[in-house]
Amino acid sequence: MSLRICKHFGVCGGCSYLDKPYEEQLEEKVRAVKELLSVEPEEVHPSPKQYYYRNRMDFVAAPGPKIGLNVRGKWWETVDIEECLLQSPESDAVRNRFREHMRERGLEGWDRINRRGLIRFLSVLEGKYTGERLIFVVVYEKNERLGLFDFLEKVRSTGIKITSIILGINRGVRDDARAEQLEIVYGSETITEKIGSLTYLLHPNAFFQPNSYTLDTMIKTALSFMDLKGGETVLELFSGAGTFTIPFAKAAGRVVAVESDPDSAKIAALNLKLNKVKNVELVQERAERVSLKYDYVILDPPRSGLSYKLVKKLRKAKPKRILYISCNPQTQARDIQQLGYKIDRLSIIDQFPQTPLIETIALLKK
Ligand SMILES: C[S@@+](CC[C@H](N)C(=O)[O-])C[C@H]1O[C@@H](n2cnc3c(N)ncnc32)[C@H](O)[C@@H]1O
Repeated sequence: MSLRICKHFGVCGGCSYLDKPYEEQLEEKVRAVKELLSVEPEEVHPSPKQYYYRNRMDFVAAPGPKIGLNVRGKWWETVDIEECLLQSPESDAVRNRFREHMRERGLEGWDRINRRGLIRFLSVLEGKYTGERLIFVVVYEKNERLGLFDFLEKVRSTGIKITSIILGINRGVRDDARAEQLEIVYGSETITEKIGSLTYLLHPNAFFQPNSYTLDTMIKTALSFMDLKGGETVLELFSGAGTFTIPFAKAAGRVVAVESDPDSAKIAALNLKLNKVKNVELVQERAERVSLKYDYVILDPPRSGLSYKLVKKLRKAKPKRILYISCNPQTQARDIQQLGYKIDRLSIIDQFPQTPLIETIALLKK
């Protein structure tokens, strides 16, 4: 496939591998994983799509107004993005139209250094297999000049489908596209995505694996590595909105799914219903605070990996099998070593083409 380079390459912090052929990107990432984990992977799965694969993009708003992504290595500076190869041409059009809307209405972007301004983020969520699209506008406070219905009409007049618009109010110091208060402007709080035979709800405040095209492979790999016979009880820590909970519940006797974020736990409950799954106990709690006395454990922590407290508890509980799903092989390598387990099987899945990031699934045994 021929290389595509966007006009922001080199400045934007989004894709630092855009100038490398895809095979080279993958080779480099696989080499890094092998060095970190000291194991030969039994499978390497490239992404079926190398551009326009993300189901969610969080664009940051800044004074100007600018709207785009962080400058490489500078979280406080914003590249005013006109084109991006990660989500879709429609997502580009929505973001560029929103910048115009901000200009027309005098809506200031958020100044992250002085903590002043109105618009903090514009997120676009897309169901890649359903064609649904949710726009999430995160503001510091409500303002009558926002005119989100007017914005909806402007986008629709270009023929782009919008299923939902959600307003989020985020007055916190945490600088991410999440909001403590949500208001439905149009449509409903979630959109739908289909992965194989499973249906998932995508919600502005809940985590979802960002590449819809590699997710079926991730699920199938996780199931085949854990190799359940049907009657087992599985403890799943960091279960999010239930991406792995649902297929594992179909393969096991019972799943105890532990997730600390209330919105993700709420969406997980809805996802279970939607997929007619009943043998799951959902626990909204920190993984560090639950009993770990189970033989089969699934871990899928954030990039920072496991806390030392959780590692110590797992060392004591000594599960027979641990499936460790990770988007950061560095913390995964550290955690596996601290847990005192060995990698029995390893699969590498490229969830993140054009970037140095990579996903790994490791089956651990004592
Ligand atoms: C990488 S995501 C994985 C979610 C899910 N497994 C999936 O595939 O969609 C990590 C999840 O861990 C949750 N989380 C972070 N720290 C946690 C903790 N200490 N205890 C439980 N959940 C936690 C986050 O809210 C997030 O939903």
